[in-house]
Amino acid sequence: MEKKELLYEGKAKKVFATNDPECYIVSYKDDATAFNGLKKGTIVGKGVVNNQVSNYLMEELEKEGIPTHLVRELSERETLVKKVKIIPLEVIMRNIAAGSLAKRLGLEEGVRMASPVLEYCYKDDALGDPMVNEYHIRAMNIASKEELEKIAEYSFRINDYLTSRFAAIGITLVDFKIEFGRTSDGTVILADEISPDTCRFWDTATGNKLDKDRFRRDLGSVEEAYIEIRKRLMGI
Ligand code: TMP
Ligand code: ASP
Repeated sequence: MEKKELLYEGKAKKVFATNDPECYIVSYKDDATAFNGLKKGTIVGKGVVNNQVSNYLMEELEKEGIPTHLVRELSERETLVKKVKIIPLEVIMRNIAAGSLAKRLGLEEGVRMASPVLEYCYKDDALGDPMVNEYHIRAMNIASKEELEKIAEYSFRINDYLTSRFAAIGITLVDFKIEFGRTSDGTVILADEISPDTCRFWDTATGNKLDKDRFRRDLGSVEEAYIEIRKRLMGI
């Protein structure tokens, strides 16, 4: 697969064109940001771990019947993916109160919600990714009713699968953020990544945080946390 021009550079990944008009190459960086880019740093080796972990999980999700952008891993940091137009929504699923939900609703971090909570944020850095509901999404033509139904259905199924997958390796899936895209024929598929950058993972036995909150909150041992997730999940 031939890597061509850089199409887009985000905070954690670069996207390149390829000689296949239906495929992109994503390249994962070690750059880390938080609080809408206000805090910047490097997590050494993060790009490699996130690429491997995300591909591993997407492969499993494909087997569960969730369509994803994954085509194949090309190298430690690079993956061939299906070309999509990202639907500009951060789709957040929450099982336990933490982060912005805990703050917004005055809940103590760690309180289990009676049922999973699905939230949407409009992906717009200049606006700080404001939370929106189905009515905003419809009214702004961000996604159709049918697309939103698919997104919600996939999100709950992904949550069910990942919750039990991580429970089996002693990790509590607190919450996570996913993104979806449309292929050229309009099919909605899971895109972006699922990694310690985009999930909250708590060690079930100790309560230790094994995700990007270690960077956001200056808790130290950030690299080690990412590697621990890969090790428990993939054995490497
Ligand atoms: P929050 O509690 O800060 O809203 O985060 C909810 C989940 O979404 C958490 O698992 C971290 C993830 N997340 C991202 O992946 N990207 C983001 O920009 C933000 C704010 C959160
Ligand atoms: N990635 C986001 C940013 O840089 C925030 C986060 O993950 O906390 O703003």
